[in-house]
Amino acid sequence: MTWFKGSAGGLAEEVSSRSSGAAASRNALRASHEEAGSAFLDAAAPELLELTSSARPPALPLNHVIGHYRLVEEAGRGGMGVVYKAEDTRLHRFVALKILPEQVGEDSVDLVRFRREAEAASALNHPNIVTIYEIGQDGSTHYIAMELVEGKTLRELLVAGLLPIRKAIEIAAQVAEGLAKAHEAGIAHRDLKPENLMVSQDGFVKILDFGLAKLM
Ligand SMILES: Nc1ncnc2c1ncn2[C@@H]1O[C@H](COP(=O)(O)OP(=O)(O)OP(=O)(O)O)[C@@H](O)[C@H]1O
Ligand SMILES: [Mg+2]
Repeated sequence: MTWFKGSAGGLAEEVSSRSSGAAASRNALRASHEEAGSAFLDAAAPELLELTSSARPPALPLNHVIGHYRLVEEAGRGGMGVVYKAEDTRLHRFVALKILPEQVGEDSVDLVRFRREAEAASALNHPNIVTIYEIGQDGSTHYIAMELVEGKTLRELLVAGLLPIRKAIEIAAQVAEGLAKAHEAGIAHRDLKPENLMVSQDGFVKILDFGLAKLM
């Protein structure tokens, strides 16, 4: 994959993100995985992608309220569902609200994947991993509320043009920092791609979408 143009600059970011909280995160996640006891965990990432929905979910009306979140605008969408910029009407801040299509059944692979995403990402506390606020349900609608990343996906940046080498290395180093944190906690992301990486307006890279994550 070509992320950059030009020749190598002098930037050599060292990737080191060791923390003592990793063991606790790993144990909590392992306990929850054992409790879930799902074949989902044994499936390879490509199989899971095939199992989970690929139809484009319909958009919900703006200003619609789900839980205590008011939908403001669409922030993006993927195979699983639509992500909205939403207002948290209790804390009066904007969040990203990822919503599963309503027709998803209680024991569907989509829902298992959705819960796994929330669990895996919330076990990790790192500036390069998106922060999960809560997972919730309003009627038959399941949602994850998380930190709103104001910026662009790496895919959008690449479509706009090749990245300068210095910028590409900065992004790669931040991705490596986030992944190192996840790996320390025993979590493999398994779906790293430009659509699942966002670069905020102030230059922070955030790893999104732990829906296919697996405990190693
Ligand atoms: N926290 C966030 N802040 C801002 N935008 C976001 C956030 N999370 C996701 N998005 C946007 O929504 C898009 C889809 O999000 P995400 O990858 O989590 O969905 P998905 O349905 O699981 O995708 P996939 O097709 O990889 O399964 C992202 O590519 C991004 O544009
Ligand atoms: Mg995605």
